[in-house]
Amino acid sequence: LSTYVIKCKAAVLWEINKPLPIAPPKASEVRIKIVATGICLSDDHVISGTWHYPIPKILGHEAAGIVESVGKKVTPVKPGDKVIPFFTPCCRECKICKHPNGNLCSENDLSATRGTLPDGTTRFTCQGKPIHHFLGTSMFTEYHTVVDEISLAKIDSSAPLGKVCLVGCGFSTSYGSAVKVAKVTPGSTCVVFGLGGVGLSVIMGCKSAGASRIIGVNINKDKFAKAEELGATECIDPQNYKKPIQDVLVEMTEDGVDFSFEVIGCLDTMVSLWSLCHCGCPPSGQKLSFNPMMLLTGRTWKGATFGGFKSKDNVSKLVSAVIAKKFKLINEGFDMLHSGER
Ligand SMILES: NC(=O)c1ccc[n+]([C@@H]2O[C@H](COP(=O)([O-])OP(=O)(O)OC[C@H]3O[C@@H](n4cnc5c(N)ncnc54)[C@H](O)[C@@H]3O)[C@@H](O)[C@H]2O)c1
Ligand SMILES: *[C@@H]1O[C@H](CO)[C@@H](O)[C@H](O)[C@H]1NC(C)=O
Ligand SMILES: [Zn+2]
Ligand SMILES: [Zn+2]
Repeated sequence: LSTYVIKCKAAVLWEINKPLPIAPPKASEVRIKIVATGICLSDDHVISGTWHYPIPKILGHEAAGIVESVGKKVTPVKPGDKVIPFFTPCCRECKICKHPNGNLCSENDLSATRGTLPDGTTRFTCQGKPIHHFLGTSMFTEYHTVVDEISLAKIDSSAPLGKVCLVGCGFSTSYGSAVKVAKVTPGSTCVVFGLGGVGLSVIMGCKSAGASRIIGVNINKDKFAKAEELGATECIDPQNYKKPIQDVLVEMTEDGVDFSFEVIGCLDTMVSLWSLCHCGCPPSGQKLSFNPMMLLTGRTWKGATFGGFKSKDNVSKLVSAVIAKKFKLINEGFDMLHSGER
């Protein structure tokens, strides 16, 4: 006898024969048909409420698509072009864009979390109410609108969209974190905590930078084979040890590692494993605290968005590198992210 209520997610039909209207692109905007989208744990941080962001909203920030129509002032792209939209725009005019290493353009919605396009409005409505965008993007939809000059890159017409959509977040974030932000050095020892989409690409970055030892750490052993195929020299599961994992790693490496990457997004691991770096997204509702001796004893701690890459300068180049088979991209999807196969 069943007497309890269960909860589930569902696609709700609100009105008969009324798909979601998407306003036409404004003068400098582009409307894109989304062909492929990836799923990043950052989307899930909003669903779980650990990242505060206005709702109702359409999530998704990692995609590739084809231009459907353009506003009257748009020149660089035309209908039919393959493009990747950015969650970190690149206006080229603000102080940050003008800085050679700055990539968090002041037009970004990551810090402001308004849930709109830069002009403060949204292009989606449902039942007459505006639906918020996510990071100036919103890819879990059939069509999406962005500002042309600052928020998208035209990519090679031969690009396989199902794979290169990962250049829109996961791959660039993690590969850049290794080669551009941490600047992994040849012969170094690296440890990567978390072997999801982001962690696997960090491994590719460490390998291409010439690291000689790359240790993967994950609580799900099913991730080990893929990690080793992509360049991890060994993988360990913290649950197999009685000692704290940082002590295990110090022993394994005699004196600790040169670079450590936290790509789980968990505050506990960020702090306790600092003796070892970080590039995950701490959910914004939480704060970190640490012992300043960690700094005085010579460690540095870096974080970055989008791997420190300037979206406008680098996305099409990274796509070309993928086409040239310099990188192997794997798009696993929601089923794996949510089915416990993480
Ligand atoms: N800074 C940025 O620009 C940026 C961009 C993309 C993603 N992120 C962040 O990177 C993180 C990873 O994203 P993802 O999509 O790869 O996630 P994911 O869920 O696919 O991967 C995380 C992995 O960590 C493992 N894990 C969980 N707890 C663990 C523990 N205590 N010890 C060891 N392993 C553990 C899980 O088994 C999983 O395989 C997220 O927090 C995401 O928000 C940041
Ligand atoms: C990123 O863009 C800069 C500036 O255009 C360029 O010097 C660099 O080589 C690019 N890196 C990649 C990996 O595309
Ligand atoms: Zn992401
Ligand atoms: Zn800017």
